[in-house]
Amino acid sequence: MSKLAIIGGTGLSQIKGLKITQSQSIETPFGSPSAEFICGNINEQDIIFLARHGNPHHIAPHKINYRANIWGLKKLGVTEIIAVAAVGGITSAMEPAHIALPDQIIDYSYSREHTFFADDLEEVTHIDFTFPYTPQLRQRLIKAAEKLSLNITSTATYGCTQGPRLESAAEITRMERDGCDLVGMTGMPEAALARELNIDYASVAVVANWAAGKSDGEITMSEIEHHLKSGMSNTLKLLSAFLSNQFE
Ligand code: HPA
Repeated sequence: MSKLAIIGGTGLSQIKGLKITQSQSIETPFGSPSAEFICGNINEQDIIFLARHGNPHHIAPHKINYRANIWGLKKLGVTEIIAVAAVGGITSAMEPAHIALPDQIIDYSYSREHTFFADDLEEVTHIDFTFPYTPQLRQRLIKAAEKLSLNITSTATYGCTQGPRLESAAEITRMERDGCDLVGMTGMPEAALARELNIDYASVAVVANWAAGKSDGEITMSEIEHHLKSGMSNTLKLLSAFLSNQFE
C-alpha cells in the first residue's frame, strides 16, 4: 500500500486542514531531520508532513539534512513524496505565483551530503536518474490540476543552486542556456536520495519571483513572500484535489 508524504518548503511550514494525529521525532544514522514528522489526515487520506526548513523556518537550503529527512520518511513507511518548493522563474511562462511540475533537473549545488551509498558498501551502486521525478506520480498531479482547471506547467527543468544567496544575472543566463526553466536551492540532493531509497518523488514548484536579471531591480523578500502567498494557496488546492483523486 502506498503512503504519501508532503515535504513543505518556504511558504509552506504546515498544511491547513491537516487533522494531526501524531508528531514523531526520529533520529537517524545521519543525524536529525529538519523537524518532527507530522502524521495526520486530510480528505480522509493519511499523510505525513515534514517542514524542510524546520518549523519555524530556520534551516538554510545548504544546511538541510536531506539524508536524515529522507531516511526518516522511509523509516515511517513512506512510498511516495510530493515535494513543494519555492523557485525563481527563468523562462517566460514561469511568472511569479505560477505552479510548475518539473520533469527534469540539473544540479549546480556542491558540498552537500548527497548519497546514502558512500560508506561501508558491499558493492558500488549507481541509481538510474534518467527521469528524476516519478512519471506516474507526476501524472496524478497533472490530473488533479486538470480537475481544478488550474493553469500549471507540466514539464520544466529545475536548476538547483547552492544558495543561500540568490544568483547573479550571468548565472541565470547560463542556466537558461543550459535549458533550465526554474531555479531553486533545495531540489537536490532530495530527489536523488528519494530514488536511492526507492521512494517515488515528484515536485510542485511555486514561482516566488523572476530569477536574477529577468525583471528590473532587485529581488526582495517582500516580493517573494507576496507571490508565494497566492502560489501556495493554489498549491494547497492542488494537493487537496490530488488527495481526493487518489483512489479513483
Ligand atoms: N533563486 C533560487 N532559489 C529561489 C529563488 C531564486 O530566484 N526564488 C525562490 N527560491
